[in-house]
Amino acid sequence: MPAHSHPATSPDPVATVGRAITAHAHEPGGLLPLLHAIQDELGWLPPEALPRVADVMNLSRAEVHGVVSFYHDFRLKPPGRRVVRICRAESCQAMGSDALVEHARQRLGMEMHSTRPDGGFTLEPVYCLGNCALSPSMTVDGTLHGRVDPARFDEVIDEMSPLPEASRTLACTAEAEKPL
Ligand code: FES
Repeated sequence: MPAHSHPATSPDPVATVGRAITAHAHEPGGLLPLLHAIQDELGWLPPEALPRVADVMNLSRAEVHGVVSFYHDFRLKPPGRRVVRICRAESCQAMGSDALVEHARQRLGMEMHSTRPDGGFTLEPVYCLGNCALSPSMTVDGTLHGRVDPARFDEVIDEMSPLPEASRTLACTAEAEKPL
């Protein structure tokens, strides 16, 4: 799926969901593209959006929740300001991604599949980034990095410019209070 990104301003969730519905609701097999379109823009799937998606796709809410739960890519909570995804597929495993994950957990002070309490980082697994020749691989905010050992991981993290505290994470949290 397209890279997670951090736009300068937080997108309007209601408008985002409306655009995704307009673009994908009437295409065969449109549910996944529709859900991806929402997440690509917002960084997550606000749970309030799912009943609306179910309605327009003529599906039950349970069916939509089942799809969202099945695919690890979908998030039902806002991500941190930085999203680090480390490849856990075969080639990267063979080239040391276990050690890389352990280093990332220590360096960022957090577990996989989580967002740090300060909202600074989300750390997630991903299963093949198409960069197997340069294993182990990871993305940070959608930017691909290859041959990432612990030292390179630290370089990437250290080179990143700090993001302001006021991020769309907070904005999205506030928006989540409203029905979509
Ligand atoms: S297995 Fe990690 S990029 Fe393909």
